[in-house]
Amino acid sequence: MSDSLQTIQAPIEQELLYFEQYFRSAMRSNVALLDKVTQYVFRRKGKQIRPMLVLLSAQICGGITPSTYRGAALVELLHTATLIHDDVVDDSDERRGFFSVNALWKNKIAVLVGDFLLSRGLLMALEHDDFQLLKIVTGAVKLMSEGELLQMEKARLLNIDEAVYLEIIRQKTASLMASCCATGAATATDDPERIEQMRLFGEKLGIAFQIKDDLFDYGDQDVGKPRAIDIKERKLTLPLIHVLNKSSWTERRNLINIVKNHNTNPRKVKQLISIVTEKGGISYSRRVMDTYLAEAEELLAGFPPGPARSAMQELMHYTITRNK
Ligand code: IPE
Ligand code: IPE
Ligand code: MG
Ligand code: MG
Repeated sequence: MSDSLQTIQAPIEQELLYFEQYFRSAMRSNVALLDKVTQYVFRRKGKQIRPMLVLLSAQICGGITPSTYRGAALVELLHTATLIHDDVVDDSDERRGFFSVNALWKNKIAVLVGDFLLSRGLLMALEHDDFQLLKIVTGAVKLMSEGELLQMEKARLLNIDEAVYLEIIRQKTASLMASCCATGAATATDDPERIEQMRLFGEKLGIAFQIKDDLFDYGDQDVGKPRAIDIKERKLTLPLIHVLNKSSWTERRNLINIVKNHNTNPRKVKQLISIVTEKGGISYSRRVMDTYLAEAEELLAGFPPGPARSAMQELMHYTITRNK
């Protein structure tokens, strides 16, 4: 684990262990096949950014309560479910440095396991009458599906502009991160203004987070999941959108032709990545990402200083500097 992630976790070390107990126990099932898959998923942990957002937001807003842990487990269950489904949708065979669920057990099983985790998360909240939690998080589940579908619609037509791109990532990624922060805040305070400020903070952070993720697709570092897969799936992300916008008609035609007809040809894909890099697509994306991060930082500055706010600042920084 990176040093930076460890500093972020320091003020919530014990709390993350509690969260993990909820998370693990919600994943259990008497169906042996299902239990085998969820065990496999549980052993290959992600960065757990979303539960950290819940716990830190609660701490910043007055302190962690029992429902904060359930909120943290709920968001990680939903996140895990959407990743398992996302790998089916994107036809991806690698996740967190290992085979994806669909690669090992096929799509049918991955779809059902994703559904199981999603329902377990919602049921866990329901069992504890955590209605406010459900209210905040269920909207994100809806937006995430809509975001992925909007993305597919645009991938089919290849007619996406920057505003639509930002709307897609706001829905598919930032909505859950916004819910994480709102959930944490709502388990610690009743002040609607504070909760809304935290939600907005999470949304800005989430947009920066997905821009960074989309930059990985253009990179040459091992990030534990396939690269150039967005191009293969005809997903136009910010680096390419920007370059398409400032290209001549012929250059545009060449780039679109690669995305449409040569997206599995390594030589052509490499050529596309070089053009996007040379024409400033990567640096432009970084600038947009920094702008969202700065907006998030400003919102966070409105909260009282302390170890939790400092850890949140670290987490913000980690979002745009991370290497996986
Ligand atoms: C991956 O999220 C999906 C996106 C929204 C880009 P993470 O990068 O947080 O995934 P894990 O949980 O750490 O593997
Ligand atoms: C994020 O988009 C997907 C979800 C919000 C579930 P990506 O498709 O880019 O995520 P990765 O790169 O597969 O993790
Ligand atoms: Mg994907
Ligand atoms: Mg990605």
